[in-house]
Amino acid sequence: MSESMEGLKRSCRCAELDTSHIGEEVTVMGWIQKRRNLGTIIFVDLRDRSGLLQILFDETKLSKENFDKAYGLRSEFVIAVTGKVEKRSGEVNPNLKTGEIEIVAEDLRILSESDTPPFPIEPGIDTNEEVRLRYRTLDLRRADIQSNLIMRSRVTQYMRNFLMDEGFLEIETPMLTKSTPEGARDYLVPSRVHQGRFYALPQSPQLFKQMLMVSGYDRYMQIARCFRDEDLRADRQPEFTQMDMEMSFVNEEDVMDVTQRLIAGIFKEILNVDVQLPIERMTWKEAMERFGSDKPDIRFGMELKDVSDIVKDCEFGVFTGAIEAGGSVRAINAEGFGDMSRKQIDALVDFAKGCEAKGLAYIQLTPEGEVKSSFAKFMKEEEMDALIKALNGKNGDLLLFAADRDKIVFNVLGALRLELADRKGLRKPDEYRFLWVTEFPQFEWSDEEERFVAMHHPFTMPMESDIDKLDTDLGAVRAVAYDIVLNGIELGGGSVRIHQADVQEKMFKALGISEDKANEKFGFLLEAFKYGVPPHAGLAIGLDRLIMLMTGADSIRDVIAFPKVKDASCLLTEAPDSVDEKQLDELGIKVVKDADTE
Ligand code: AMO
Ligand code: AMP
Repeated sequence: MSESMEGLKRSCRCAELDTSHIGEEVTVMGWIQKRRNLGTIIFVDLRDRSGLLQILFDETKLSKENFDKAYGLRSEFVIAVTGKVEKRSGEVNPNLKTGEIEIVAEDLRILSESDTPPFPIEPGIDTNEEVRLRYRTLDLRRADIQSNLIMRSRVTQYMRNFLMDEGFLEIETPMLTKSTPEGARDYLVPSRVHQGRFYALPQSPQLFKQMLMVSGYDRYMQIARCFRDEDLRADRQPEFTQMDMEMSFVNEEDVMDVTQRLIAGIFKEILNVDVQLPIERMTWKEAMERFGSDKPDIRFGMELKDVSDIVKDCEFGVFTGAIEAGGSVRAINAEGFGDMSRKQIDALVDFAKGCEAKGLAYIQLTPEGEVKSSFAKFMKEEEMDALIKALNGKNGDLLLFAADRDKIVFNVLGALRLELADRKGLRKPDEYRFLWVTEFPQFEWSDEEERFVAMHHPFTMPMESDIDKLDTDLGAVRAVAYDIVLNGIELGGGSVRIHQADVQEKMFKALGISEDKANEKFGFLLEAFKYGVPPHAGLAIGLDRLIMLMTGADSIRDVIAFPKVKDASCLLTEAPDSVDEKQLDELGIKVVKDADTE
């Protein structure tokens, strides 16, 4: 049975009612969360996006037809109820916004019936995520996901208002475009009109926002969808959203200033959390050396120490070999982990190997005062003492050493630091530690391509003092690039852009991009840059990540209405999917490999 709502008008949402409405007649509509049948009376918890409301169907106060209808109600039926707000006849529910009242029903309509849902529509259920995503429409009814998406909407609204007040304009940039150089693989869209040609979906609006600066728009913002075909992780999606911005006639200080005031405003307005301004800063080099990461979680210590000097003449080949090869030996003090069993330590060694380490050396200072070590036999007593002293080791601590190329040493110890902090509960969810990481290297060496590639993108300005190194020492060139980091996650990043043709030329040369190649890929931008370019800079914040951190969600998928899973498919719609021969013909495309037949 499904009735129309003809002649009815919803008067308010369920949880907008409280004791101040007692005596009023209301009409509410929503889904049935729960129904309890006590014979002559029936209770229903009615749900809409505002929350729950108790409805009382009393046999003595309803027509027989209506009471019979109430009798047949089941979970997730959609109903409309008209009745009076009254003080609860039974016990008050202090956990509910509407816990002191109920609606005594006078009229009931069943607007839609429902099959039994495949999982309960409740917060915090442990239903397998695959099932939840297949039935995402039901999953999205749950209060915890709803509150995530409601917060997301409030945050974007706040961003827009804040930036409008700061003189920004919201301008849309194309989705069907040419490949942008953000470093990931592009999603391609075949052209029907120009067969054999492809649009690329934007990895970010980078080039367009720079052209808007050339066109004089001065301050641009956009809540922009971006597409990147890369390996997914808990904090990555193939399509995601950036709060993107760009400003003219500014330097990095101006961009960082607007950004941190925006972030502080959001945290105050939405979470009532005070963000101390200015946000702390750290150079990339310091972040790597102290935390082994370019996005350090600074809620706890366990900092890295370079012990190369202490061990450079020791008898342990693993250490001296790494130093002689131009690497280093560094260590962390895992305080309070000195009571680990041999098996547990072996598991840590395996963890390190999972981060490309060849091994992990340790000194265990047991709570009982014993010293156990995987390499003590190669060390002089004073070398061991010096290591323990350098790391402030005391009974009950575990000192972990990695020896390798710096890049690997940082990676291993940085990851161990987070893993061990998680185990000790040092990464407190309600503590928000922001950080600006600055002076990123302009280039990073790609083992795969055997050449330097841009760490940010090729339009990022090198630091003035390093420009001469563009010809001599690429590895040493630092960029005017900055990332904003929260609790160990990169929230956003940006840079000052190159606006001088000669510096841009040098940059392309350094990256091994020929003039022809540059013209082919970015000719339109280079052409635009011939006609008066204002100095400009900008940044983009990952909106999904920001909301994930603000809501405390475990995964970015919990803050996106219709997310994709690890293999980039959508379980709800089953995209990507095959298409008709006719569609392919029109595009001039022939499929030579098919996932179904592979
Ligand atoms: P960048 O590539 O650093 O910079 O991206 C900015 C922010 O976007 C978020 N992000 C992602 N979020 C979810 N899933 C992904 N796959 C994903 N990739 C990135 C991150 C990141 O910090 N055009 C430049 C910005 C600029 O220079 O102005 C850019 O896109 O939070
Ligand atoms: P091996 O000489 O390979 O038997 O290693 C001796 C000890 O040093 C073992 O505890 C290894 O886990 C450790 N080890 C090996 N390679 C490294 C490395 N690159 N950094 C730190 N420790 C290592």
